[in-house]
Amino acid sequence: MNRLVVVSNRVALPGKRGSAEGGLATGLARALEERGGLWFGWNGRVAETADSPPALLSNEAVNYATVPLTRREYDEYYVGFANRCLWPLCHSRLNLLRFKRREYQTYLNTNARFAQQLLPLLSDAPLIWVHDYHLLALGERLRQAGVRSPLGFFLHVPFPCPCTLRALPPHRELVRALLAYDLLGFQTIFDCDAFLGAVRLCVPEARVEERAVSYGGRRVRVLPFPIGIDVDEVAQLAERGRSGLHGKRLEASLTGRQLIIGVDRLDYSKGLPDRFRAYGQLLEHWPAFRRQVVLFQIAPLSRTEVPEYDSIRRELNAIAGDLHGRYADYDWLPLRYMTRGFPRRTIMGFLSLARVGLVTPLRDGMNLVAKEFVAAQPAHDPGVLVLSSLAGAAQELKDALIVNPYDGEQVAEGLAQALSMPVEERRERWSAMMKVLRDYDIHHWAQAFVHALAEGAGA
Ligand code: ADP
Ligand code: F6P
Repeated sequence: MNRLVVVSNRVALPGKRGSAEGGLATGLARALEERGGLWFGWNGRVAETADSPPALLSNEAVNYATVPLTRREYDEYYVGFANRCLWPLCHSRLNLLRFKRREYQTYLNTNARFAQQLLPLLSDAPLIWVHDYHLLALGERLRQAGVRSPLGFFLHVPFPCPCTLRALPPHRELVRALLAYDLLGFQTIFDCDAFLGAVRLCVPEARVEERAVSYGGRRVRVLPFPIGIDVDEVAQLAERGRSGLHGKRLEASLTGRQLIIGVDRLDYSKGLPDRFRAYGQLLEHWPAFRRQVVLFQIAPLSRTEVPEYDSIRRELNAIAGDLHGRYADYDWLPLRYMTRGFPRRTIMGFLSLARVGLVTPLRDGMNLVAKEFVAAQPAHDPGVLVLSSLAGAAQELKDALIVNPYDGEQVAEGLAQALSMPVEERRERWSAMMKVLRDYDIHHWAQAFVHALAEGAGA
């Protein structure tokens, strides 16, 4: 197999995996552990200078090469352009988009610096696979530095539709930059179509085909590769987590009540305020569920330097207080809401104890928690997934109860249906979803992408 170099802003360094690293880190860690390769990116730290050669670290399968960010890069590339401009853009939240030319320039410079520091590591690396919105321009910078290897790019978040994309001042430049890659992978067919629409808008001289773009004498393929999970790993962790100390304590604390669970980084794209309000509607309109259910929301803090993340935290505190004030009893609290993280095993154990997985992002590239919830369920008595139609996962997990997260009444109805669903129907839905998860797991995702990249290069 070809030697693979993976590049992403966030790197899940062994022994340092945080609780709020997100789907990219979870997915790539599993994919690389199996296939091996080099993983290059940010070491998670801020330093005075960042020009030294990358720090190297290895375990059995993966070599890691990481670099710090300077204070300016952290503030302007990561917090600024990536997370205050591209993130809201990709999640269709134009009211939150904030563009600053200086931050954009630092973003391009940081992409160029990553390219320069990667170059000396490329000697025996024919396949380069770049990830996510932090590094849209990295491929172009590598090409400018003379790299001829096949270059692939995978976007973990949604690609905005052309009319939304136009709000980004340098949209033409970034769409052109993406055409430096040989293979562009997206989570769903909708994202592929949105990108092809963007090419029509921004690069009129390019020829757009059904799943490719011909431009400047090159052909760039544009394909969906929905990211999956390691089903057996999740099932094993869930079993261990469930019978571990925290799993036992959670189960005992429920005293027979049905558990509804949500696990998300504390991010405005996850729709947490609407989720809490929809749960309030369940308690309001189906009073029989009062005292019989508990919503447990784990939302580890994420990107705390971005002001919008602080606002969402305060908003959630207020709604949580309101729910308690309205519905709590002296011996029952409807909601358990925590912003701290837990080890992965504990989280999977918690998921397996829930009757309902409530995954209602307002927009999400894929949403791995939805898949983990299903894989964590016990086969004889599985829970029900209530899933947002606006998460990439809804394109695959058709046997979930699919709801529109903007329609609180529909979410409340979905909850009521899930909580009352007979075991036979739960098993049927769960088996159908497990088949999809097994057929398109994390290993299939990595293999399909790498195969397509190598194939396109004639390797
Ligand atoms: P995103 O990438 O936007 O954060 P995903 O749902 O795709 O969303 O991925 C989130 C990943 O982070 C999942 O693998 C999930 O299990 C993990 N995760 C989320 N919250 C926690 C937590 N509190 N502790 C440990 N892992 C967590
Ligand atoms: O999966 C989406 C994603 O944005 C990743 O790109 C990112 O690594 C993760 O969520 C967590 O965000 P951050 O790296 O900003 O902590």
